[in-house]
Parts: sequence; C-alpha cells; structure tokens
Amino acid sequence: MASERRVDVTENGNATVLVLVGSLRAASVNRQLAELAAESAPAGVQVTIFDRLGEVPFYNEDIDGPTAPEPAQALREAGAHADAVLVVTPEYNGSVPGVLKNAIDWLSRPFGDGAIKGKPLAVVGAAHGRYGGVWAHDETRKSFGLAGARVVEDLELSLPTAELGDRHPRENAEVTARLRDIVGKLLAETD
Ligand SMILES: Cc1cc2nc3c(=O)[nH]c(=O)nc-3n(C[C@H](O)[C@H](O)[C@H](O)COP(=O)(O)O)c2cc1C
Repeated sequence: MASERRVDVTENGNATVLVLVGSLRAASVNRQLAELAAESAPAGVQVTIFDRLGEVPFYNEDIDGPTAPEPAQALREAGAHADAVLVVTPEYNGSVPGVLKNAIDWLSRPFGDGAIKGKPLAVVGAAHGRYGGVWAHDETRKSFGLAGARVVEDLELSLPTAELGDRHPRENAEVTARLRDIVGKLLAETD
C-alpha cells in the first residue's frame, strides 16, 4: 500500500506529488527525508510515498505489457496520477541503488510514452559519504531524463548523513527549509 498524506484543499488545488525512495531500509534516512518532504508540502497538495518498490520484479521485457506484474502496474499508475515526482535516494557504490533503477526502467516503458513523460521531477537524498550521494543523484537525473521525465536540474540536495547526527531530518532547521523550498519550486513547475 502507498502511504498518503492528505491535506486540506486550498488555492493550490489538488496537486499530487509522487515520492520514490531509493532505500528499502526501515530506518532509512532517505525515507525520513521523504516524510519530511510530505510534511513540508503546502496545504492542498497530496504527497504519496510509493511504498511498494521492493515488490516490483526486475524489469524484463518478456513480462511487460498488458499483463505486467501488478506492483509494476501500480507504480505506473502512481506515476500517471502524479503532477510531479520527487525522488529521494542514497548512493550505492557510487551510483543509483538497484531498487530505484528498476523503478526507472519500468517507468521508462513504453519507450517515449512512459507514465512520467513530461512531468517535473526533482532528485534529492542523503548518503554517508562526504558528497552526500551526488554521483547517484546526478545519475538518477540522467536516467529519469532518458525515461521521459522533465528533470528540474537546479533543485539539488545531496546531504552527508553526518550533518544529521542521529536525529530525524525534521529536527534540522536548515534541512527542513531546503526541502520545503525544493518541494515548493517543484510544485511551481506544475503550473
Ligand atoms: C550497498 C551499499 C553501498 C553504499 N555505497 C555508498 C556510496 O557509494 N556512497 C556513499 O556515500 N554511501 C554509500 N553507502 C552508505 C549509504 O549512503 C548509507 O548507508 C545511507 O544511510 C543509506 O541510506 P538510507 O539511510 O536511506 O538507507 C552504501 C551503503 C550500502 C548498503
């Protein structure tokens, strides 16, 4: 099940942001950042964290099509329903975690007409290294751009986890402000 945070509808309309998290870990810092992004969204915006990336099978053209596995179809439906996409990911071995790359591959097909075609998309995240996962974030932008999303390149947050200590990111005022700014600017791209 995708977890949702619904808020009162205001002049922001019913904008919907799909959040994809590149870590399946229960205590994931990136998952916490995704939660903070949901909390930071303006009233009227529905933020949905897609919780089922771990259920999506490895992409295989033999199983794609009208009878694609249900979790992959659910991912595509979530992408099609969204007005914008926020990706929150760590870096694994200098690159994009496999679970996220798999999601990109499913979302990229049918080629040229994937579920997130033309939708504004921002990439942020935290990683242990001193550059906060910037390699993974750059490669995630590249792959999502090839998959058809409209990547908003200047929305950047590559956070070294050491800056958070042992605390939830919401307890860090600077991180909270940066994330709120990114969510706001991403939403502005949907106008
Ligand atoms: C398989 C694996 C590979 C990793 N590779 C990198 C890396 O290349 N760069 C980096 O900064 N951190 C790397 N890390 C450390 C992660 O950045 C760190 O565990 C981070 O907290 C994971 O995000 P999460 O808390 O959202 O799960 C790696 C961790 C794992 C498990």
